[in-house]
Amino acid sequence: MSVNVFDSKEVQQLLAAAVNLNSDEGNPRMKQVCHRLLSDLFKAIDELDITPDEVWLGINYLNKLGQDGEAALLAAGLGLEKYLDIRMDAEDKEAGITGATPRTIEGPLYYAGAPVRDGMAKLDVDPDADAGPLVIHGTVTGPDGQPLEGAVVECWHANSKGFYSHFDPTGAQSDFNLRGAVRTGADGKYEFRTLMPVGYGCPPHGSTQQLLNVLARHGNRPAHVHIFTSADGHRKLTTQFNIEGDPLIWDDFAYATREELIPKVVEKTGGAALGLKDDAYKSIEFNVTLSGLVGGKDNQLVNRLRAAATA
Ligand code: DHB
Ligand code: FE
Repeated sequence: MSVNVFDSKEVQQLLAAAVNLNSDEGNPRMKQVCHRLLSDLFKAIDELDITPDEVWLGINYLNKLGQDGEAALLAAGLGLEKYLDIRMDAEDKEAGITGATPRTIEGPLYYAGAPVRDGMAKLDVDPDADAGPLVIHGTVTGPDGQPLEGAVVECWHANSKGFYSHFDPTGAQSDFNLRGAVRTGADGKYEFRTLMPVGYGCPPHGSTQQLLNVLARHGNRPAHVHIFTSADGHRKLTTQFNIEGDPLIWDDFAYATREELIPKVVEKTGGAALGLKDDAYKSIEFNVTLSGLVGGKDNQLVNRLRAAATA
């Protein structure tokens, strides 16, 4: 039996009371947002006739999500993180900001504190028999196309099992394995010597995968490499590139793939001279163009809780 009570005075008063709307105390912005979100939830319960059993299923799910530490993973899997990117892209378009390397989601697996090297960093600390050598290199330029000196490029990616150091459920990796940072010289160039990653999959028994299963969705990402780039006088860029040829490139559970972020993978030899584990290696050129500050500020800097340690 469907009833509609949302618009009643009793429910509207309940919503106002729940967020203390009629008091001057508390945080007005949080009140505004909580009131809207709670109202939308109540309305949905009314309109879809969501049952008490379904409501409690959802609440118990949120508890489990927190216990699993997977809220940020779910945010990406449900497209919320992509949606924030779509909005920032639209803001840029409206402001006439074009030409920079496209952003894409950060994901939940960054770990701050990797040592910053000049020009080149070797990222593989641990041996990985199943991963071949990979060199990632490029030039950081500003909106005028000129190389940026002193830019810091941070890089993190998974190993051949699709696991990230610090978040590896097997505990197999050293702290900053496959994570590093490089400061560019006058030529704006950076280089990472590392090992080829494999795509990430959500923990199979975690709450994110549990919900994806109900939606008949997989929880896998194509192989990818995360890049942060910062430089004085420019906006910080959060992006990733995919490894060309991965079958999941256009089927990423986190919706991070973009046409412009699939650089060519080039086969090379001469790895021995570079200190790589094999002479044959793969090379990816990924150039980064940063955008300028807006009104002297990085108007899109994202603050979120990030794991951190000192190397
Ligand atoms: C997510 C993003 C990643 O880059 C990753 O490796 C795993 C998960 C995510 O957005 O949920
Ligand atoms: Fe990732």
